[in-house]
Amino acid sequence: MSKILLETLRGNPGERVPFWFMRQAGRYLPEYREVRATTKSFMEFCYSPDKAAEVTLQPLRRYGMDGAILFADILLVPDGLGQNVWFEVGSGPKLTPVKTKADVDQLSLTGFHDKVDAVYQTVAKLKNMLPPETTLLGFAGAPWTVATYMIDGAGSKDHAAARQMGYGDPDLFGRIMDLLVEATAQYLCKQIEAGADAVQIFDSWAAALPESVFDDWVLRPTKAIVDKVRAKHPDTPIIGFPRLAGLQYARFIAETGVDAVSLDTGVPLDWAANTLQDKVCVQGNIDPHLVVSGGQPMVDEAIRILEALKNGPHVFNLGHGFVPETPPENVALLSDTIRNYRR
Ligand code: CP3
Repeated sequence: MSKILLETLRGNPGERVPFWFMRQAGRYLPEYREVRATTKSFMEFCYSPDKAAEVTLQPLRRYGMDGAILFADILLVPDGLGQNVWFEVGSGPKLTPVKTKADVDQLSLTGFHDKVDAVYQTVAKLKNMLPPETTLLGFAGAPWTVATYMIDGAGSKDHAAARQMGYGDPDLFGRIMDLLVEATAQYLCKQIEAGADAVQIFDSWAAALPESVFDDWVLRPTKAIVDKVRAKHPDTPIIGFPRLAGLQYARFIAETGVDAVSLDTGVPLDWAANTLQDKVCVQGNIDPHLVVSGGQPMVDEAIRILEALKNGPHVFNLGHGFVPETPPENVALLSDTIRNYRR
């Protein structure tokens, strides 16, 4: 049976618009909170293949998305490279920050795949559990976004430490980025070899970088990963998400070679339809906060998006991930709206 999401990512849309949602697994679902409560540490939870596979499937049972995204986190890559990563309740991720040459010397690809092996096991489990028409999505963070956490040691407003290292010590910063490119390419290849049908690269913090560094920090590392993954797996679509990159979305597509892009909430749809969608498949872009209030305004906005992007390959998604306060019944209404729409 053919997978409608996979076909659409390859540039062959059908009558129905396929859909999946970023953070479709997570705290807005009571059944997620129940399984999550059985493991104290979030990292250990991500490294538990049975639990990770179960929470990946939960939203599909409710809403029948066309895609299942592997349950894991972008910060498993620095953990696999030997950095200390942990999550604190209420304040998000924490890492022992990478500041000096000695800190960078501590990071290594040796032992990486053993450390993250549970992720590959989760993918293999899902491959066996999913119906043949469902697309299995693997993912990783893009080097720039992962580096912001590694260098700042936490989520931060303006990624000050990472930007300052990028400008002030480009050699040291370049070593971190090169290591991330190699680790991420290998990590995505292993996910594909374990059964992922397509992969998404999340560059959540691509926002507002000066164009002089956008090339070195976003375009080149992403292109290097795309080239490495495509050399081994030429038929696996790669989705890029240079979130809030504005007009740089066009260059991102031209220069990285991705098969699809995820549009953040701010991308104007007529511009996307005219400038991006003739080159790649687009995903997006309803505001996750509109799904919190739901009702007719959410339905109207979903239809507006479906109509605006109906002349090319489109995968319906959010402009960013679901927030924990999302009422599950609103996700049901949104899913039905997309499922019933015909191009
Ligand atoms: O359903 C899915 O989308 C798959 C799983 C997934 C998670 N994180 C699970 C998660 C994916 C694809 C991610 C990606 C991710 N992780 C990104 C890129 C996408 C984005 O949102 O911009 C980033 C920046 C991270 C880093 C991260 N992980 C942060 C900043 C946080 C804390 C914020 C928060 O929401 O608590 C996490 C934790 C996290 N990752 C949770 C989930 C479900 C919540 C923690 C929990 O359940 O205890």
